[in-house]
Amino acid sequence: MAQVFLSAPLLLGLWKTVAIQDFERFGRIDYKRPRIDSQSGMMPPKLAQMMLNLSISRGVVYDPFCGSGTILLMAGELGFSKIIGSDILPRAVSDSNENLAWYENGFNKKLDYEVFESDVLSLPSRISNLEIDCIVSEGYLGKALRGNESFEFIQKQIATLEELYIKTFEVYSKILEEKAIVVMSIPVFVHQTKLLYLDVLEKIEKFGFRLDNLVEEKYLGKRKTLIYKRDDQKVYREIVRLVRLGG
Ligand SMILES: C[S@@+](CC[C@H](N)C(=O)[O-])C[C@H]1O[C@@H](n2cnc3c(N)ncnc32)[C@H](O)[C@@H]1O
Repeated sequence: MAQVFLSAPLLLGLWKTVAIQDFERFGRIDYKRPRIDSQSGMMPPKLAQMMLNLSISRGVVYDPFCGSGTILLMAGELGFSKIIGSDILPRAVSDSNENLAWYENGFNKKLDYEVFESDVLSLPSRISNLEIDCIVSEGYLGKALRGNESFEFIQKQIATLEELYIKTFEVYSKILEEKAIVVMSIPVFVHQTKLLYLDVLEKIEKFGFRLDNLVEEKYLGKRKTLIYKRDDQKVYREIVRLVRLGG
């Protein structure tokens, strides 16, 4: 097994291993899975793993914007007890199913999973009975951008997505029990040198969620959330974690 050892200084000249990454296994999941959807934005498995770890759970996980299933695959890799995915597109459902079957065969590991077709805003009522511990999801990023779009175009896109994300959390508030965790990536648009965030977090909290602080005190600025980006991207991802409150 090929491994990378991540080390940290212990004492003068002494180091201790704090984590081991099996990069060949990671690379196989990243590059060899049969279905990758470059249209809806390719999600790196490392980002999926990081978001799943932020959920603190290994129980029932649901991704309602599953695309070709990177989060579902990595949930299998991390040992979540049940993995549920859905997407508005039939193609995404078949891609996710194909990737998950490939993983089961290739890694000789049986997963408990189901993937179904649904708009997140009209989920089947049985979803409320599934006792979901966490939602981990990379939400819709909007229409693919070429980079020459006008400010007005991006503003329109932002308004449409704000409505989708707010309504999505209203749905989450109906299907999640107290203490369930939501880890989501929300798009952030880059226009010239400016970052344009969706203005949704305060509205989402009003549905009965608490936004967690993911930023170390010494780095805390205006936002409690993390940004995942590559410098050449036109849309970054804002990683948020919310906890469902009771009452
Ligand atoms: C950024 S992609 C997710 C990619 C995914 N993480 C992967 O690994 O492939 C967002 C997905 O949201 C889906 N989507 C967009 N609007 C939706 C809606 N209203 N309900 C459910 N899914 C939706 C799209 O079809 C797309 O597959």
